[in-house]
Amino acid sequence: MRVYVTRRLPSDCLQSLSTVAEIGMWREEAVPVPDAVLREEVHSADGLLLILTDRVDRSLLDAAPHLRAVSTMSVGYDHIDVAACRERGIAVGHTPDVLTETTADLCWALLLGTARRLYQGQRAVVEGTWGSWAPFYLAGQDVHHKTIGIVGLGRIGQAVARRAQGFSMRILYTGPRPRSEAEPLGALYCSLPTLLAESDFVVLLAPLRPETHHLIGSAELAHMRSDAILINAGRGALVDEAALVDALAMERIWGAGLDVYEREPLPPDHPLLRLPRVVALPHLGSATVETRRAMARLAAENLADALTGRPMRHPV
Ligand code: GLV
Repeated sequence: MRVYVTRRLPSDCLQSLSTVAEIGMWREEAVPVPDAVLREEVHSADGLLLILTDRVDRSLLDAAPHLRAVSTMSVGYDHIDVAACRERGIAVGHTPDVLTETTADLCWALLLGTARRLYQGQRAVVEGTWGSWAPFYLAGQDVHHKTIGIVGLGRIGQAVARRAQGFSMRILYTGPRPRSEAEPLGALYCSLPTLLAESDFVVLLAPLRPETHHLIGSAELAHMRSDAILINAGRGALVDEAALVDALAMERIWGAGLDVYEREPLPPDHPLLRLPRVVALPHLGSATVETRRAMARLAAENLADALTGRPMRHPV
């Protein structure tokens, strides 16, 4: 059997796979595999281990007549046409759980960093614009005892709620339905408009699906409080970015902390980056050495499972 891996990954993380298949790998770590190379490689592949910058659509599947399993090194799978894979009997796996706490840590860092203006503070020190101590110099927003509204109380949303408990926050959440896990977290279920109107921090952690595309647009931003902060650690297209730029520029909301964007990498001339109370990170949610290694291992195990006739340990 033959599998193709679309980025350079540590070989010790791929051991489960190397015992069952021959591995072809794109040798770059930071440069995506060109489309033409991927098409050529999948032609003879039984399995594909990919990351979230690679798209698995019908046209790629048409070029992969032997493909039996795809495994993404990510929890999100909006880059994979799962229905098209199912139609062809191709198993799809992803990497939840191993990144939950790490991603919640980053989301919390983004929330604190935005509320307390860490990036502007660092820039002032480095650029030498730090003047005298002043009563309202770089004054931000309190986090403790405020209301957090979590859109999507899945694994990562729950881990963020646990962090919010430590900050004595009131916790609201919304999603398709109330969840039993909310009760021990003291999280209250409400509608999206209520969450937007009552939250000091609106945290987006919902998966990207057709029904969540641009979940937050100008009408929703208008529901938010003028001192509220929007945090997006889910997927960029949950937010209508043009509407967000307008809301921030008009000071209809106070600030935004973003780890994900409609288009990644975010172009450096993007208007979001000219706004003073925006913290923008380059999609770092799960980016620790331990977690990225665990994700690579799990993605390889999912693929090895499927290719040896077992159910994947984390199927989509
Ligand atoms: C990262 O965004 C992931 O889906 O793992």
